[in-house]
Amino acid sequence: MNDYHSPETILIVDDSEENLHLLTKLLLEHKYEVRPALDGQSAIVAALAEPPDLILLDILMPGINGYQVCEQLKADERTKEIPIVFLTALQEVCDKVKGFSLGAIDYITKPFQTQEVIARVEAQLANQRLKKQLEEQNRRLQQEIAFRTAAEKQLRLLERAIAASSNGIVITDAQLPDNPVVYVNSGFENLTGYTAEEVMGKNCRFLQGMELEQTGRGQLRQAITEKQECQTVLRNFRKDGTPFWQELTISPVYDPQGNLTNFIGVQQDITNRIAAEEALKKSEERWQLVIRSTGDGIFDWNIQTGEVFMSAELKQMQGFAEDELANTYEAWRNLLHPEDLDETLVALATHLKRQTPLYEVEYRLRCKDGSYKWILARGEAQWDQRGNPIRMVGSHKDISARKQAEQALQLSEAQQREKAKQLELALAELKRTQAKLIQSAKMSSLGEMIAGIAHEINNPTSFISGNLEFARQYFQDLIHLVELYQQAYPNPTPKIQDYTQKIDLDFLTQDWQKLTNSMQIGAKRISEIVRSLKIFSRQNESKLELLDIHESIDDTLLILEHRLKPTDKTKGIEVLKNYEQLPKVNCYASQLNQVFMNILANAIDALQTQTPPRVITISTYVTKQFKLQNLPNHSPAAVSASVALVSSLSLSQDSISQGYSYTDIMPNAQTQDNLGIQESSSSNLKEQQLHLKPPYQDTEFVVIQIADNGPGMSKELQQKIFDPFFTTKQVGSGTGLGLSISYQIIVENHNGQLSCISTPGQGTEFIIKIPV
Ligand SMILES: Cc1cc2nc3c(=O)[nH]c(=O)nc-3n(C[C@H](O)[C@H](O)[C@H](O)COP(=O)(O)O)c2cc1C
Ligand SMILES: Nc1ncnc2c1ncn2[C@@H]1O[C@H](COP(=O)(O)OP(=O)(O)OP(=O)(O)O)[C@@H](O)[C@H]1O
Ligand SMILES: [Mg+2]
Repeated sequence: MNDYHSPETILIVDDSEENLHLLTKLLLEHKYEVRPALDGQSAIVAALAEPPDLILLDILMPGINGYQVCEQLKADERTKEIPIVFLTALQEVCDKVKGFSLGAIDYITKPFQTQEVIARVEAQLANQRLKKQLEEQNRRLQQEIAFRTAAEKQLRLLERAIAASSNGIVITDAQLPDNPVVYVNSGFENLTGYTAEEVMGKNCRFLQGMELEQTGRGQLRQAITEKQECQTVLRNFRKDGTPFWQELTISPVYDPQGNLTNFIGVQQDITNRIAAEEALKKSEERWQLVIRSTGDGIFDWNIQTGEVFMSAELKQMQGFAEDELANTYEAWRNLLHPEDLDETLVALATHLKRQTPLYEVEYRLRCKDGSYKWILARGEAQWDQRGNPIRMVGSHKDISARKQAEQALQLSEAQQREKAKQLELALAELKRTQAKLIQSAKMSSLGEMIAGIAHEINNPTSFISGNLEFARQYFQDLIHLVELYQQAYPNPTPKIQDYTQKIDLDFLTQDWQKLTNSMQIGAKRISEIVRSLKIFSRQNESKLELLDIHESIDDTLLILEHRLKPTDKTKGIEVLKNYEQLPKVNCYASQLNQVFMNILANAIDALQTQTPPRVITISTYVTKQFKLQNLPNHSPAAVSASVALVSSLSLSQDSISQGYSYTDIMPNAQTQDNLGIQESSSSNLKEQQLHLKPPYQDTEFVVIQIADNGPGMSKELQQKIFDPFFTTKQVGSGTGLGLSISYQIIVENHNGQLSCISTPGQGTEFIIKIPV
């Protein structure tokens, strides 16, 4: 047993217990581990279960004999290498041969010599050990060979790679003075224009030409001194003198003992990159210059991450320092003025959907101090192959000053417009006042004149009518006296007879009766006219009074009678009256007279040129109508709003079913005073509906319709007739005020309605409605 190994295991197989015991004891004494087996079968099982280092095998055994055991173990891969020593008697020579042929390596003859047993066992185990060692060495050797072959192969590949690399590769010998070049590849030759022979043994610094003050040189020197790796950029010169830029990486190489042996340098030509970088830098500088000179802010938005680069100028524009505004889309969005948010986001989305070539929008952006600046934002997005926006670059321009100027301009424009409007209104008002003044002056002078004439006529007329009765009585008395004379003196003198015949006393007596009757009628007529004139001239009486409309119309007709009567040349105008029972109307009597006068005078004027029959029809009646509440504002918007309202309410249905049309509710736009809406603006109809008073009231109206069968009017003409000073009559014969004044009187002074229906060629009708 040797001292270096753990106890070796020996399987002893013998059917003789005595032998087993003897061998076991012997081997145990020599520090072997022993596993005994009494028959061949259990020996095979034991050897397979845990292969021993050696088997001592008896040949003659009951059951499977030693040869069979040996045969089986040598046939099995797991046990075939275990050395087997047969235990045999001295005389069994031929058996020995059989044993060797089956793979046994030795024999121990019985009876056992203990020393021989130990010596043989020892020798076989030593052999076995040696064999194992050799095998191990062999295996290692094989491995080594395989490894070296692979390494050589790799080395050849690397060599080829280095040679084929377009990068320049230089190897220097770090153990020789001044790091001389020991290897360069063809990449180096191509890059520098020098051949390998030309540079061999030289230090590479010669490539720097005259430019020996480069920072890269210092970095390399330090790295070489410190035996470190280094990467730097150098400007070198080719053999032909042309400069080039290279990125040089040098790495130290150590031998297994840790001694620095070489440096490997890898050169990469970056001339183009440097040129591109310089061009970029220049263009960047140009841009910076432009940006700085315009004062614009720049943004670069990564749409996918939401990150936004905002230039310092952009942030400064809003009063932020670089770190005071986050570089995010949200940060920008949060600064947008709420009123500009929607429009801006729509503009942005439209551009990102590629519907606009450029993103351009003006909005207000909040500053650090809370104030807002007007910004003109412009940008252009970039899209990926699938059409998704990935990036947008653009600028911010502060346009607050321009906006302020624009707003100021707009304001002053609005002010100017407002002024112009006011001037227009003032002018219209002036015209109206002027019209009123002219009309009232006309009417008052007319009234004064009429009042004067009436007064002047009144006195003599009252003499006449007052004395007529006396005259009739006196005449009756005289005739009675003549009759008494005739009775007393039946034979008058010839002179009396002649005179009686001459004056035709009988006819005179009869005719005198008729004469005084007609004189009385005439006087009465004069006094009626005078009374009418008096009534008509009450134009200055501005107090409300109960008026009999029919009486007022008749008075007006009376005054106009001379124009209605036939003359030598014309046939006269027929006046038809369809008067219904009317209540008395509380009104300004003289003003209504004026209206009737204007409308009737117009009708007479219109009929002047007409061929007979010439008819004026005056109809009066009372009607009930939904009268809308007072409207404070007269804007057309309010009118249309009210139309919408009327149509949206059940009112329209009711009114139609009762025979009223919208024109009854609103005969024309100018009667809008009657509309019942509180709010004047039509901007929000719903709001108006909320503020709506009960929209209508049941109101009784007195209606006066004055129609003529004159020439009628065109639509265009109808639109103008209520305008002050509009006239189609010859200069001097019409002022164009009659209808505008009438309109004012009816609509404004009496809260009524005045409308006109006219058909060219058929005639004209004016409809006056006065609330009772
Ligand atoms: C492996 C290796 C390769 C080098 N290749 C170059 C080169 O291509 N061009 C160059 O200018 N310097 C190159 N150098 C650097 C110079 O050889 C030298 O080390 C450098 O100029 C600093 O040293 P100095 O101050 O002694 O000149 C290389 C150095 C080493 C170690
Ligand atoms: N019944 C009518 N038939 C046809 N045209 C009419 C009738 N009534 C008015 N007009 C037209 O309307 C115009 C305006 O009438 P308006 O009474 O306001 O002024 P005018 O009669 O011309 O002058 P004046 O101030 O003397 O009344 C008339 O000039 C005429 O053209
Ligand atoms: Mg008129």
